[in-house]
Amino acid sequence: MRNKPGTPPRRRTRIATTLSAALGSIAVLAAITLVTGGSAAAATTLGASAAERGRYFGTAVAASRLNDSAYTTILNREFNQVTPENEMKIDATEPQQNQFSYGNADRIVQHARSRGMQVRGHTLAWHSQQPGWMQNMSGSTLRQAMLNHVTQVATHFRGQVAWWDVVNEAFADGGSGARRDSNLQRTGNDWIEAAFRAADAADPNAQLCYNDYNIDNWNDAKTQAVYRMVQDFKSRGVPIDCVGLQSHFTGGSNYPSNYRTTLSSFAALGVDVHITELDIRNAPSDAYRNVVNDCLAVARCKGITVWGIRDSDSWRSGESPLLFNGSGQKKPAYDAVLTALNNGTPPGGNPTTTPPGGNPTTPPPGGGCTASITPGTVWGDRYNTSVTVSGATTWTVVAAVTAPQQITTTWSGSASLASNGTVLTMRSNGSGNTFGFTTMMNGNSGARPQIRSCTAG
Ligand code: XIL
Repeated sequence: MRNKPGTPPRRRTRIATTLSAALGSIAVLAAITLVTGGSAAAATTLGASAAERGRYFGTAVAASRLNDSAYTTILNREFNQVTPENEMKIDATEPQQNQFSYGNADRIVQHARSRGMQVRGHTLAWHSQQPGWMQNMSGSTLRQAMLNHVTQVATHFRGQVAWWDVVNEAFADGGSGARRDSNLQRTGNDWIEAAFRAADAADPNAQLCYNDYNIDNWNDAKTQAVYRMVQDFKSRGVPIDCVGLQSHFTGGSNYPSNYRTTLSSFAALGVDVHITELDIRNAPSDAYRNVVNDCLAVARCKGITVWGIRDSDSWRSGESPLLFNGSGQKKPAYDAVLTALNNGTPPGGNPTTTPPGGNPTTPPPGGGCTASITPGTVWGDRYNTSVTVSGATTWTVVAAVTAPQQITTTWSGSASLASNGTVLTMRSNGSGNTFGFTTMMNGNSGARPQIRSCTAG
């Protein structure tokens, strides 16, 4: 109920207002730039470039490294989002039952927030890194202790954490598509939704995510199983806002060529997607570039977090999987990521590059199709519109709004905007036959969009 299809969830109001104001002005600038053919100076840091695209670029941070000035110099320069690497885990925050310990987590949160970086809370409920007292628990005692933990920790950080990984790694690897066996799972299959409801009650303004690894390949049973759980949660009103793909392409896992399909498929369920713990064995530029382009291609992909700054900070340092070497120098993958970000699509802007591997090619326009408009939520300054296409599975729809109205955000399609944001060309991107967009009224609250054409193929 907090998250009606096609509308931003109620809980996001505070963040969304600021963000949409910022995105609005960026979109205007982008559109003007396109019309005049000029180009803005390229951003020189990961965070600044991601922000220009309405996203964040973050890193895992260890409290023990905050005294290392080489480390904090890179952190403060490059990143605009932070995830505590271990300091918010259950063993760190509740080492003895009902005795909470927040010192290291608070230090990271303070470091981040005082510099305008957003914080991802990681993680409230997990089978791993449990304190000894919890490992020994089972049944309703464990269920109660877990819910109390979620409530206490989410309450402590209320208002400071933008997103919570409420539940981490609850599905089994391999082909079963089953839940992972754990003491938490044995308290009953509803433990995940119970954790989400407790987190929602404690911190109603945070975005609540399910986070896992090996859910990158769309064809994997584990990916499909998580997808079905999120679909079920959305259909039953369980408060979930986002899915985190850890995307550790280390330890034997690889970047899959259908990664973008996975991101857009989750997004089409009405949740945001986050790439939460990215690292790639030997840091190949191509794979890093592909991940960035895939995220930029999916409007609901909100950002990318790499799991550490320098290779020497990595939990898998033997695979040298990060963007900076042990001396803090930028590796080739860093340049690939920054360039991909800078070449990416600003919110509401036109694509300026074709991602490596190519955009899905559009066959020559075929026959017709029908696009019908469903009005969405209206706010004081903007409104949403959904468009449903029938008669074709791949299509291109052109929709127009009346100036000074401007389309600023789109979802569930491959978008390009022209004529100062008044003309949207939306191509199907495999995420279904409904897409949507947000229009800023800019003083004209009466006009509504028109469909100009629908072309099959
Ligand atoms: C890892 C940390 O990086 C290590 O320092 C720690 O020893 C173990 O956990 N999935 C997760 C992260 O969700 O919390 C894990 O972090 C890596 C895998």
